[in-house]
Amino acid sequence: MHNLPEIPCYLNGEFTTLPHAKISVMDRGFIFGDGVYEVLPVYGGHPFRLAQHMARLDRSLGELRMANPLTRDQWSDIARSLIASYAQSKGVQPDQSDQMVYIQVTRGVAMRDHVMPKDIAPTVFVMTNAMRMPSDEDRRRGVACVTADDFRWEKAHIKSTSLLGSVFSRQISFDAGATETVMFRDNFLSEAAASNVWIVKDGTVCGTPKDNLVLEGIRYGLIEELCLAQGIGFALRRISREEVLAADEILLSSATKEVLSVTTLDGQAVGKGVPGPVYLKLHAAYQTAIAQSKAAAQTARE
Ligand SMILES: Cc1ncc(COP(=O)(O)O)c(C=O)c1O
Repeated sequence: MHNLPEIPCYLNGEFTTLPHAKISVMDRGFIFGDGVYEVLPVYGGHPFRLAQHMARLDRSLGELRMANPLTRDQWSDIARSLIASYAQSKGVQPDQSDQMVYIQVTRGVAMRDHVMPKDIAPTVFVMTNAMRMPSDEDRRRGVACVTADDFRWEKAHIKSTSLLGSVFSRQISFDAGATETVMFRDNFLSEAAASNVWIVKDGTVCGTPKDNLVLEGIRYGLIEELCLAQGIGFALRRISREEVLAADEILLSSATKEVLSVTTLDGQAVGKGVPGPVYLKLHAAYQTAIAQSKAAAQTARE
Protein backbone atom coordinates (compact mmCIF):
# COMPACT_ATOMS: atom_id res chain seq x y z
CA MET A 1 0.00 0.00 0.00
CA HIS A 2 1.11 3.57 -0.69
CA ASN A 3 1.87 5.57 2.42
CA LEU A 4 -0.77 8.24 2.28
CA PRO A 5 0.33 11.82 2.93
CA GLU A 6 -1.00 13.73 5.96
CA ILE A 7 -3.45 15.67 3.82
CA PRO A 8 -6.50 17.16 5.56
CA CYS A 9 -9.84 15.55 4.81
CA TYR A 10 -13.39 15.28 6.14
CA LEU A 11 -15.24 12.01 6.75
CA ASN A 12 -18.80 11.80 8.12
CA GLY A 13 -18.66 14.88 10.31
CA GLU A 14 -15.01 14.66 11.39
CA PHE A 15 -11.99 16.56 10.13
CA THR A 16 -8.98 14.27 9.96
CA THR A 17 -6.13 13.41 7.59
CA LEU A 18 -5.98 10.78 4.84
CA PRO A 19 -4.01 8.11 6.78
CA HIS A 20 -6.59 8.27 9.59
CA ALA A 21 -9.81 8.31 7.53
CA LYS A 22 -11.41 4.82 7.60
CA ILE A 23 -14.66 3.46 6.21
CA SER A 24 -16.47 0.16 6.60
CA VAL A 25 -15.67 -2.73 4.22
CA MET A 26 -19.45 -2.91 3.68
CA ASP A 27 -19.66 0.61 2.33
CA ARG A 28 -21.62 0.39 -0.92
CA GLY A 29 -19.10 2.72 -2.52
CA PHE A 30 -16.47 0.03 -1.93
CA ILE A 31 -18.72 -2.95 -2.74
CA PHE A 32 -20.66 -1.60 -5.75
CA GLY A 33 -19.18 1.78 -6.72
CA ASP A 34 -22.59 3.03 -5.53
CA GLY A 35 -21.73 6.69 -5.13
CA VAL A 36 -21.11 9.99 -6.83
CA TYR A 37 -18.35 12.58 -6.73
CA GLU A 38 -17.29 16.06 -7.72
CA VAL A 39 -13.92 17.71 -8.33
CA LEU A 40 -13.85 21.46 -7.72
CA PRO A 41 -10.96 23.57 -8.92
CA VAL A 42 -9.83 26.14 -6.34
CA TYR A 43 -7.87 29.23 -7.38
CA GLY A 44 -6.31 31.48 -4.77
CA GLY A 45 -8.33 29.72 -2.08
CA HIS A 46 -11.69 30.23 -3.87
CA PRO A 47 -13.68 27.39 -5.44
CA PHE A 48 -14.39 28.25 -9.09
CA ARG A 49 -17.98 27.74 -10.29
CA LEU A 50 -19.00 26.23 -6.96
CA ALA A 51 -22.74 26.73 -7.59
CA GLN A 52 -22.54 24.74 -10.84
CA HIS A 53 -20.60 21.90 -9.19
CA MET A 54 -23.16 21.79 -6.38
CA ALA A 55 -26.02 21.69 -8.88
CA ARG A 56 -24.38 18.77 -10.70
CA LEU A 57 -23.88 16.94 -7.38
CA ASP A 58 -27.64 17.30 -6.79
CA ARG A 59 -28.36 15.92 -10.28
CA SER A 60 -26.02 12.94 -9.79
CA LEU A 61 -27.49 12.14 -6.36
CA GLY A 62 -30.98 12.44 -7.84
CA GLU A 63 -30.08 9.80 -10.45
CA LEU A 64 -29.07 7.48 -7.57
CA ARG A 65 -32.38 8.30 -5.81
CA MET A 66 -30.43 9.86 -2.97
CA ALA A 67 -31.04 13.12 -1.15
CA ASN A 68 -28.14 15.51 -0.74
CA PRO A 69 -27.02 14.92 2.88
CA LEU A 70 -25.66 18.47 3.31
CA THR A 71 -26.77 21.97 2.44
CA ARG A 72 -24.76 24.08 0.00
CA ASP A 73 -23.53 26.20 2.92
CA GLN A 74 -22.36 23.08 4.74
CA TRP A 75 -20.46 21.85 1.65
CA SER A 76 -18.96 25.26 1.20
CA ASP A 77 -17.89 25.48 4.87
CA ILE A 78 -16.24 22.05 4.73
CA ALA A 79 -14.42 22.94 1.51
CA ARG A 80 -13.22 26.29 2.91
CA SER A 81 -12.00 24.67 6.10
CA LEU A 82 -10.01 22.02 4.19
CA ILE A 83 -8.60 24.62 1.79
CA ALA A 84 -7.38 26.68 4.75
CA SER A 85 -5.89 23.63 6.55
CA TYR A 86 -4.11 22.48 3.40
CA ALA A 87 -2.68 25.94 2.75
CA GLN A 88 -1.55 26.15 6.37
CA SER A 89 0.12 22.73 6.13
CA LYS A 90 2.12 24.10 3.17
CA GLY A 91 2.99 27.31 5.05
CA VAL A 92 1.08 29.61 2.67
CA GLN A 93 -2.00 31.82 2.95
CA PRO A 94 -5.15 30.27 1.39
CA ASP A 95 -5.23 33.06 -1.21
CA GLN A 96 -1.83 31.85 -2.44
CA SER A 97 -3.02 28.30 -2.91
CA ASP A 98 -4.54 26.57 -5.96
CA GLN A 99 -6.15 23.26 -4.99
CA MET A 100 -8.60 20.57 -6.15
CA VAL A 101 -11.33 19.67 -3.70
CA TYR A 102 -12.71 16.16 -4.14
CA ILE A 103 -16.19 15.35 -2.79
CA GLN A 104 -17.64 11.85 -2.63
CA VAL A 105 -21.01 10.66 -1.36
CA THR A 106 -21.80 6.95 -1.28
CA ARG A 107 -25.10 5.30 -0.40
CA GLY A 108 -23.61 4.13 2.90
CA VAL A 109 -23.04 0.90 4.79
CA ALA A 110 -25.33 -2.16 4.53
CA MET A 111 -25.08 -5.92 4.08
CA ARG A 112 -24.43 -6.76 0.44
CA ASP A 113 -27.56 -6.71 -1.72
CA HIS A 114 -27.92 -5.07 -5.13
CA VAL A 115 -31.29 -3.57 -4.18
CA MET A 116 -30.91 -0.02 -2.89
CA PRO A 117 -31.42 -0.14 0.88
CA LYS A 118 -33.60 2.57 2.43
CA ASP A 119 -32.87 4.70 5.48
CA ILE A 120 -29.13 4.22 5.71
CA ALA A 121 -26.77 7.10 6.38
CA PRO A 122 -24.70 8.08 3.34
CA THR A 123 -20.92 8.21 3.60
CA VAL A 124 -19.61 11.72 3.03
CA PHE A 125 -15.94 12.23 2.21
CA VAL A 126 -14.12 15.40 1.16
CA MET A 127 -10.39 15.90 0.59
CA THR A 128 -8.21 18.51 -1.02
CA ASN A 129 -4.85 18.49 -2.70
CA ALA A 130 -2.61 20.75 -4.77
CA MET A 131 -4.04 21.49 -8.21
CA ARG A 132 -2.36 19.39 -10.90
CA MET A 133 -2.20 21.80 -13.83
CA PRO A 134 -0.99 21.00 -17.35
CA SER A 135 2.73 21.75 -17.70
CA ASP A 136 4.00 24.86 -19.48
CA GLU A 137 5.17 22.58 -22.27
CA ASP A 138 1.69 21.05 -22.65
CA ARG A 139 0.29 24.58 -22.89
CA ARG A 140 2.93 25.65 -25.44
CA ARG A 141 2.95 22.57 -27.66
CA GLY A 142 -0.47 21.03 -27.06
CA VAL A 143 -0.90 17.37 -26.13
CA ALA A 144 -1.14 14.01 -27.86
CA CYS A 145 -4.32 11.92 -27.66
CA VAL A 146 -5.33 8.53 -29.00
CA THR A 147 -8.77 7.26 -30.02
CA ALA A 148 -10.74 4.25 -28.80
CA ASP A 149 -14.27 2.92 -28.86
CA ASP A 150 -16.41 4.11 -25.99
CA PHE A 151 -17.09 0.84 -24.15
CA ARG A 152 -18.52 2.54 -21.04
CA TRP A 153 -22.14 2.19 -19.96
CA GLU A 154 -25.07 4.32 -21.16
CA LYS A 155 -25.37 6.47 -18.06
CA ALA A 156 -22.20 8.48 -18.59
CA HIS A 157 -24.07 11.66 -17.58
CA ILE A 158 -23.92 10.57 -13.91
CA LYS A 159 -20.70 11.59 -12.18
CA SER A 160 -20.55 8.19 -10.58
CA THR A 161 -17.67 6.59 -8.70
CA SER A 162 -18.24 3.43 -10.82
CA LEU A 163 -15.27 4.36 -12.99
CA LEU A 164 -13.76 1.11 -14.26
CA GLY A 165 -14.72 1.98 -17.86
CA SER A 166 -12.92 5.31 -17.51
CA VAL A 167 -9.92 3.64 -15.87
CA PHE A 168 -9.63 1.22 -18.83
CA SER A 169 -10.08 4.07 -21.27
CA ARG A 170 -7.44 6.34 -19.69
CA GLN A 171 -4.97 3.45 -19.46
CA ILE A 172 -5.09 3.10 -23.27
CA SER A 173 -3.67 6.62 -23.69
CA PHE A 174 -1.30 6.27 -20.75
CA ASP A 175 0.18 3.11 -22.31
CA ALA A 176 0.60 5.03 -25.57
CA GLY A 177 2.36 7.92 -23.79
CA ALA A 178 -0.60 10.21 -24.55
CA THR A 179 -2.64 12.59 -22.39
CA GLU A 180 -6.18 11.42 -23.08
CA THR A 181 -8.30 8.85 -24.90
CA VAL A 182 -10.84 10.40 -27.26
CA MET A 183 -13.78 8.01 -27.46
CA PHE A 184 -16.31 7.24 -30.18
CA ARG A 185 -19.64 5.45 -29.90
CA ASP A 186 -20.90 4.12 -33.25
CA ASN A 187 -18.36 6.40 -34.95
CA PHE A 188 -19.68 9.53 -33.24
CA LEU A 189 -17.60 11.50 -30.74
CA SER A 190 -18.57 11.05 -27.08
CA GLU A 191 -15.87 12.39 -24.76
CA ALA A 192 -12.47 11.47 -23.30
CA ALA A 193 -11.75 9.31 -20.24
CA ALA A 194 -11.84 12.29 -17.86
CA SER A 195 -12.46 15.31 -20.10
CA ASN A 196 -14.96 16.68 -22.57
CA VAL A 197 -13.80 17.00 -26.18
CA TRP A 198 -14.45 19.92 -28.54
CA ILE A 199 -13.63 20.39 -32.19
CA VAL A 200 -13.11 23.68 -33.96
CA LYS A 201 -14.09 23.95 -37.62
CA ASP A 202 -14.08 27.20 -39.58
CA GLY A 203 -13.93 29.20 -36.35
CA THR A 204 -16.88 27.47 -34.63
CA VAL A 205 -16.47 25.41 -31.45
CA CYS A 206 -18.59 22.24 -31.58
CA GLY A 207 -19.31 19.91 -28.70
CA THR A 208 -21.45 16.82 -28.35
CA PRO A 209 -25.08 17.14 -27.15
CA LYS A 210 -25.69 17.02 -23.39
CA ASP A 211 -27.27 13.57 -23.30
CA ASN A 212 -26.80 10.35 -21.34
CA LEU A 213 -23.64 9.42 -23.29
CA VAL A 214 -21.40 12.14 -21.88
CA LEU A 215 -20.79 13.84 -18.58
CA GLU A 216 -21.86 17.45 -18.80
CA GLY A 217 -18.62 19.01 -17.61
CA ILE A 218 -18.91 22.27 -15.72
CA ARG A 219 -16.83 23.70 -18.55
CA TYR A 220 -19.73 23.10 -20.98
CA GLY A 221 -21.50 26.20 -19.70
CA LEU A 222 -18.28 28.13 -19.27
CA ILE A 223 -16.99 27.47 -22.78
CA GLU A 224 -20.35 28.50 -24.22
CA GLU A 225 -20.19 31.77 -22.24
CA LEU A 226 -16.59 32.43 -23.27
CA CYS A 227 -17.37 31.75 -26.94
CA LEU A 228 -20.31 34.14 -26.80
CA ALA A 229 -18.21 36.86 -25.16
CA GLN A 230 -15.38 36.38 -27.68
CA GLY A 231 -17.60 36.30 -30.77
CA ILE A 232 -16.69 32.64 -31.44
CA GLY A 233 -19.42 30.41 -32.92
CA PHE A 234 -20.65 27.64 -30.60
CA ALA A 235 -22.79 24.59 -31.40
CA LEU A 236 -23.75 21.32 -29.69
CA ARG A 237 -24.50 18.49 -32.12
CA ARG A 238 -23.47 14.95 -33.03
CA ILE A 239 -19.93 14.95 -34.43
CA SER A 240 -18.74 12.13 -36.69
CA ARG A 241 -15.31 10.53 -36.55
CA GLU A 242 -14.53 12.03 -39.98
CA GLU A 243 -15.26 15.52 -38.68
CA VAL A 244 -12.97 14.98 -35.72
CA LEU A 245 -10.17 13.79 -38.00
CA ALA A 246 -10.67 16.84 -40.27
CA ALA A 247 -10.97 19.40 -37.44
CA ASP A 248 -8.91 22.61 -37.50
CA GLU A 249 -8.41 22.27 -33.75
CA ILE A 250 -9.37 19.79 -31.03
CA LEU A 251 -9.71 20.86 -27.40
CA LEU A 252 -10.07 19.02 -24.11
CA SER A 253 -11.80 20.56 -21.11
CA SER A 254 -11.95 19.59 -17.46
CA ALA A 255 -11.60 21.13 -14.02
CA THR A 256 -7.82 20.73 -14.01
CA LYS A 257 -7.05 20.91 -17.74
CA GLU A 258 -9.28 24.01 -18.08
CA VAL A 259 -9.07 24.08 -21.88
CA LEU A 260 -6.15 22.27 -23.47
CA SER A 261 -5.15 21.98 -27.10
CA VAL A 262 -4.81 18.51 -28.69
CA THR A 263 -2.16 18.75 -31.39
CA THR A 264 -1.81 15.09 -32.38
CA LEU A 265 -4.46 12.39 -32.56
CA ASP A 266 -3.29 8.80 -33.08
CA GLY A 267 0.08 10.25 -34.11
CA GLN A 268 -1.39 12.51 -36.86
CA ALA A 269 -1.16 16.29 -36.59
CA VAL A 270 -4.43 18.07 -35.78
CA GLY A 271 -4.76 21.11 -38.10
CA LYS A 272 -1.34 22.77 -38.23
CA GLY A 273 -0.07 20.62 -35.35
CA VAL A 274 0.25 23.54 -32.94
CA PRO A 275 -2.23 25.12 -30.49
CA GLY A 276 -4.60 27.09 -32.71
CA PRO A 277 -6.09 30.59 -32.53
CA VAL A 278 -9.41 29.53 -30.98
CA TYR A 279 -7.61 27.63 -28.22
CA LEU A 280 -5.38 30.64 -27.52
CA LYS A 281 -8.39 32.96 -27.28
CA LEU A 282 -10.38 30.60 -25.06
CA HIS A 283 -7.44 29.89 -22.77
CA ALA A 284 -6.81 33.62 -22.29
CA ALA A 285 -10.53 34.25 -21.68
CA TYR A 286 -10.58 31.37 -19.17
CA GLN A 287 -7.71 32.96 -17.21
CA THR A 288 -9.63 36.25 -17.16
CA ALA A 289 -12.74 34.44 -15.86
CA ILE A 290 -10.66 32.91 -13.04
CA ALA A 291 -9.18 36.31 -12.13
CA GLN A 292 -12.66 37.90 -12.13
CA SER A 293 -14.09 35.14 -9.96
CA LYS A 294 -11.21 35.48 -7.46
CA ALA A 295 -11.69 39.25 -7.32
CA ALA A 296 -15.47 38.86 -6.80
CA ALA A 297 -14.94 36.32 -4.00
CA GLN A 298 -12.40 38.64 -2.36
CA THR A 299 -14.78 41.60 -2.51
CA ALA A 300 -17.63 39.49 -1.10
CA ARG A 301 -15.45 38.64 1.90
CA GLU A 302 -14.34 42.21 2.67
C1 LIG B 1 -15.87 11.54 -18.20
C2 LIG B 1 -15.65 13.00 -17.95
N1 LIG B 1 -16.11 13.89 -18.86
C3 LIG B 1 -15.93 15.21 -18.69
C4 LIG B 1 -15.25 15.71 -17.59
C5 LIG B 1 -15.07 17.18 -17.42
O1 LIG B 1 -15.91 17.70 -16.41
P1 LIG B 1 -15.56 19.03 -15.62
O2 LIG B 1 -15.41 20.11 -16.65
O3 LIG B 1 -16.71 19.26 -14.73
O4 LIG B 1 -14.28 18.77 -14.89
C6 LIG B 1 -14.77 14.83 -16.61
C7 LIG B 1 -14.07 15.33 -15.43
O5 LIG B 1 -13.52 14.62 -14.65
C8 LIG B 1 -14.99 13.44 -16.80
O6 LIG B 1 -14.55 12.53 -15.90
